[in-house]
Amino acid sequence: MIVRRATIEDGKEIFAIEAECFSVPWSLDSIETELSNQDKKLYYVIEDADGVAGYAGAWLVYDEGQITNIAIRPSARRQGYGATLTSALIEECFKRGMHEIFLEVRVSNLSALSLYRQLRFTVKGMRKDYYSEPKEDAYIMSLVKEEVK
Ligand SMILES: CC(C)(COP(=O)(O)OP(=O)(O)OC[C@H]1O[C@@H](n2cnc3c(N)ncnc32)[C@H](O)[C@@H]1OP(=O)(O)O)[C@@H](O)C(=O)NCCC(=O)NCCS
Repeated sequence: MIVRRATIEDGKEIFAIEAECFSVPWSLDSIETELSNQDKKLYYVIEDADGVAGYAGAWLVYDEGQITNIAIRPSARRQGYGATLTSALIEECFKRGMHEIFLEVRVSNLSALSLYRQLRFTVKGMRKDYYSEPKEDAYIMSLVKEEVK
């Protein structure tokens, strides 16, 4: 299993994972746009013998990271891939000078909440009706560099 920076060639496999994981997946166009200019963005994939098993990304905005998405193929879950991938993304965000990393997560997404808590993210607030299909609130979570070092 390896974790590496995603390239535009990974777009189709990332799109397939999106479609398997989310009720409102990103389009292939949006994914390829994200992957094509990674100056202020970081996208990583995790690969195993079956190909790309998951991906994660973040935007670098001044000194704050914003995680855009994390998804692991259903057949590859509960093997530590999500934690490994997200840890790699966090480490690179901090190396690039980010001091705090934010994300949003559905309040009912217990697996993701548990993953983020394990990585020491804490809830900072809530966004009402942030998600659609189904409509749901989001927790805003963050991880502060100084608090994990
Ligand atoms: C959330 C997600 C990325 C986790 O990926 P994963 O590879 O299965 O996670 P890991 O195996 O690395 O698990 C790490 C920790 O997350 C938590 N976790 C993961 N899946 C869980 C589940 N189904 N139930 C409870 N806790 C879970 C556990 O704390 C786990 O640690 P443990 O194995 O020591 O108990 C994956 O379930 C997924 O892709 N979900 C759909 C997409 C999604 O919701 N993304 C997040 C959007 S905000």
